[in-house]
Amino acid sequence: MGEGIISAVSNYKGGTGKTTISVNLSAAISIKKKKVLLIDGDPQSDSTRALLPPGVQIDKNLYHILSSDDSIDPSDYIYKTIHPNLYILPNITETSGLEIPLAQQFPKSNTFLRNSIRNYAKDKFDFTFIDCPPTLSIFVNNNLYASDILIVPMDAGSGNSLEGIKGVLDLMQAIREDGYDLRLLKIVINRVDRRKGAHKVNILEAKERFGDSNVFKTTIPTSSHIQTNEAIRSSTLFTYAPTSKGAQAVRNLSKEFIGYF
Ligand SMILES: Nc1ncnc2c1ncn2[C@@H]1O[C@H](COP(=O)(O)OP(=O)(O)OP(=O)(O)O)[C@@H](O)[C@H]1O
Ligand SMILES: [Mg+2]
Repeated sequence: MGEGIISAVSNYKGGTGKTTISVNLSAAISIKKKKVLLIDGDPQSDSTRALLPPGVQIDKNLYHILSSDDSIDPSDYIYKTIHPNLYILPNITETSGLEIPLAQQFPKSNTFLRNSIRNYAKDKFDFTFIDCPPTLSIFVNNNLYASDILIVPMDAGSGNSLEGIKGVLDLMQAIREDGYDLRLLKIVINRVDRRKGAHKVNILEAKERFGDSNVFKTTIPTSSHIQTNEAIRSSTLFTYAPTSKGAQAVRNLSKEFIGYF
């Protein structure tokens, strides 16, 4: 069960760990011999920089998929990464310029990504993840309309990231009312430092507000390896610091995640 499931990793607030979790959770699952696709649904292209091997040209990328709803061959848009069973549909910063043209084609443009890639991804990959930008944009709409479930990273140190959770759950509800079967898998609490009182308060508040059962049991600690890894192109926690506590936490998260399917 669970074959082909597509998960959007989303929170409207910036810097909550969407890219960290998209990249490293998908790497951890691929290491367990599952075939995984990461769609870089954020024009900032942070996942693309982390996962593409050095020197690879990405002539076909998300820009072209979102530029029109013409039918495409998805396999042309999918590239190998630095991990053997993990593939990426890359993005480029120029995609940010598509916001207005896509808005002009709203609401048809909500499903451009879904129409071009969803059937292929579900057929060819065990799991697909979509890294979302920290915006209320047509890009997030495309990512959520293409997905089955939502994973929402929350920064334990930021009360504001709770508002970002509410925002994405409201959008999920609107998409469900539009007739699409999108559901919350769980919130993942990131950057946890148990010594900090504010973290305990934010974690408790998240559980009270969104329900204990809607939060992953596994949390991701504040980790200097995660922090430094971000600046290094073509690397994940599993190539850079596989024995670090950050990597171990993501491995645990991958076990918990797979256990839900
Ligand atoms: N558990 C952690 N410990 C230490 N640093 C972290 C942790 N999680 C994320 N970071 C750092 O916080 C910053 C933001 O993380 P990340 O890029 O994953 O967030 P994001 O939600 O994708 O951001 P954006 O909203 O810009 O897309 C990065 O520098 C990252 O290395
Ligand atoms: Mg990001």
